[in-house]
Amino acid sequence: MLDPDFDCPNGCDANGFLFDEERRQAYPCSCREERLRRRLHGDMEASVGRYAPPRFQGLDWSALPLSGIAERHGAAATHVRRYAAGVEQNVRSGRGLWLLGNKGTGKTTLAYYVAQQARATGMSVLTRNTTDLLNELRDSYKPDAQPTTRQIIDAITQVELLHLEDVAVPRPNDWVLEQLYTIVNRRYEHNKAILFTSDTPYGAPLDPGGLADHIGERTYSRLMQMVGDPILMTGADYRLTVGA
Ligand SMILES: Nc1ncnc2c1ncn2[C@@H]1O[C@H](COP(=O)(O)OP(=O)(O)OP(=O)(O)O)[C@@H](O)[C@H]1O
Ligand SMILES: [Mg+2]
Ligand SMILES: [Zn+2]
Repeated sequence: MLDPDFDCPNGCDANGFLFDEERRQAYPCSCREERLRRRLHGDMEASVGRYAPPRFQGLDWSALPLSGIAERHGAAATHVRRYAAGVEQNVRSGRGLWLLGNKGTGKTTLAYYVAQQARATGMSVLTRNTTDLLNELRDSYKPDAQPTTRQIIDAITQVELLHLEDVAVPRPNDWVLEQLYTIVNRRYEHNKAILFTSDTPYGAPLDPGGLADHIGERTYSRLMQMVGDPILMTGADYRLTVGA
């Protein structure tokens, strides 16, 4: 059975079928495809958990923190707003976004805003801190682990928008590089959008190409093709300057 609460104006049945009385035959309602899609994505999110911390919910440009970020980082905010205004089309055509900047400049907040707007259009979104995701994958190899490795990989592949936090994983080893490659390459092959952040310590110059050292050249080049130039956010760590 599909979503039992769905109120179809055509009055189709629980599986999204209508009945043609003349031909004595059931046929799929126009809502069925969309309901199947929603169920697939609902099941997937339920199996791995979509992760949406309270700090980053209900974001709005007329209130902090977004209003403050727009003040400090006008160009980045404008870019993000423009992407978010067309988020459905952007995501469905595989166009992603990369926020690169110093620590505590608002990258994660902007990324969650995009994720929030994508969800508001009905698309599925999975958010993960990259290191957490790698740990989940490692744990999933244990017998009887939930979610299973396959569930995680399937979710990462199928979700409409994958949102990864802090992809510049510290001290990557061969296993980590291989997993990152698998994740990004799956998205790449299916032309699916990816939204991610990466940070640079306060005061350090922003060097987009430096990401390759953390995630490997092959993964880096695919990501670049999927997101284009990063949105840059330089400046002081907001966490350390509050009240200053
Ligand atoms: N200009 C701002 N005005 C108000 N609050 C802000 C501003 N910039 C950041 N914040 C707040 O500071 C905290 C850090 O922001 P956020 O997590 O988005 O930064 P980040 O760039 O992702 O940091 P990190 O590099 O450490 O991951 C958040 O609680 C956010 O709400
Ligand atoms: Mg962050
Ligand atoms: Zn219907």
